[in-house]
Amino acid sequence: TVIVLDFGGQYNQLIARRVRENNVYCEIYSYKTDLSVIKAKNPKGIIFTGGPNSVYLEDSPTIDPEIFSWGVPVLGICYGSQLMMHLLGGRVCRAPEREYGKTEVFVDNSSKMFTDVQPSTVCWMSHNDYIEQAAPGFKITAHTANCPVAAAENEEKGLYAVQFHPEVLHTAEGKKMLHNFVYNVCGCTGDWKMDSFVENNVEALRKRIGSGKVLCALSGGVDSSVLAAMLAKAIGKQLTCVFVDHGLLRKNEKEEVCSVFGPGNANGFDINFICVDARDRYFAKLAGVTEPERKRKIIGEEFIRVFEEQAKQIGKVDFLAQGTIYPDVVESGLGGESTVIKSHHNVGGLPDTVDFKELVEPLRNLFKDEVRQAGRELGLPEYLVSRQPFPGPGLGIRIIGEVTPEKVAIVQDADAIWREEIAKAGLDKEISQYYAALTNMHSVGVMGDERTYDYAVALRAVTTTDFMTAESYNMPWDVLGTVTSRIVNEVKHVNRVFYDCTGKPPATIELE
Ligand code: XMP
Repeated sequence: TVIVLDFGGQYNQLIARRVRENNVYCEIYSYKTDLSVIKAKNPKGIIFTGGPNSVYLEDSPTIDPEIFSWGVPVLGICYGSQLMMHLLGGRVCRAPEREYGKTEVFVDNSSKMFTDVQPSTVCWMSHNDYIEQAAPGFKITAHTANCPVAAAENEEKGLYAVQFHPEVLHTAEGKKMLHNFVYNVCGCTGDWKMDSFVENNVEALRKRIGSGKVLCALSGGVDSSVLAAMLAKAIGKQLTCVFVDHGLLRKNEKEEVCSVFGPGNANGFDINFICVDARDRYFAKLAGVTEPERKRKIIGEEFIRVFEEQAKQIGKVDFLAQGTIYPDVVESGLGGESTVIKSHHNVGGLPDTVDFKELVEPLRNLFKDEVRQAGRELGLPEYLVSRQPFPGPGLGIRIIGEVTPEKVAIVQDADAIWREEIAKAGLDKEISQYYAALTNMHSVGVMGDERTYDYAVALRAVTTTDFMTAESYNMPWDVLGTVTSRIVNEVKHVNRVFYDCTGKPPATIELE
């Protein structure tokens, strides 16, 4: 294991990820974590991340210098490098010339960090302070035009400092440098793979849970499915999964989830699987409701109620399992220590009246694509593992105005066609999220010789990296044409199809 100590930088998740790409397991901890916890992990190496502060100021994040005497190699990146120098007697101050962006760095190839790296190589810099003087015992191994100490090391003690960011792709040979650190310096063997993650976690879960009972809310999304599969493997019948069919699922979704986790499934998951048919309850509650926030609220609250009723029947459980993944873990307080349970409207949100002793969150160190990979290792079908994000309130927020079973059926059918054609056109990997929605609009059309007065379907497809902003996907006209003609022909009560060209902002990804 390599431990990343988080000092509040923007690229911390990337560092962990680059290490794992080298087949070395890696976890992120806040710099505030008790050193005994870190030591107990028996790490082969430690990496200090960047951060926005200045090491010489009073309240800046710091660490007990004891960590440097463990004999465990430490790599400091940016703020981390400055902190290392500062604590060990070097001098850090405001740089006369701030460096930002791609910068030419001259490296000393004899360093273990820079084996096989070009003597002049482009690195990503982003700093206002710089190391004016390396700490005693350190050799300077890289510099730039403006930065006398772009890298320094004390090889004997295994301490390495780099001012630039090897984890970002703009650093041309950054991958090689991190590879060098974990292999040449830390002596990692690179025998970790996603299947070892799965195996180790299954083992760890078994140990931790013992003969305890675990309750898990299964939404059918990627995270909760991988969570359920991992727990199923670890503890079998001690696990109870509750899946709520609120009637606002995508076409065939319920059947898919039941076939993977339900009785007689082909995956060998032998768990207590409860599928609650709550469709009528939801539709009754949603009747006549048109205001988006109220709809969201009703759907969220009803979910909790249904889940609680089930939990009551199950009785006291020892653990509640949550599919929290790394991006859900807020970096507040500068670190991975404080978590936020997936917020507000996420089905699977935490009902606070369920009686349990502890939370289990085995996925909390993984990125989305790593979760998908773990799902594959666990034998989950590809359609489940590569599923796109689906909001907790489901189709309820993709139907403008009142939600009725008829309208749900229309969206389900239109959405299934849209998804099918996008996959056929080979665009599914390229688009971040796409779906069909039902506008609340009727318009006049003609079919055969008859006048129609029917619904308009809206198609949406966006690309985004973080879902905070998004762009409408430049959809080929022929795909739109095929889908339009299929929808108006195959889905009753639809006579018009729109494509949403709006980005976020000003629109949101969902319509409500
Ligand atoms: P918006 O519409 O806010 O969506 O641009 C951004 C992303 O969040 C998803 N989304 C939700 N996910 N519960 C969820 O779990 C919700 O209530 C919810 N609302 C939006 C949306 O699908 C998109 O990926």
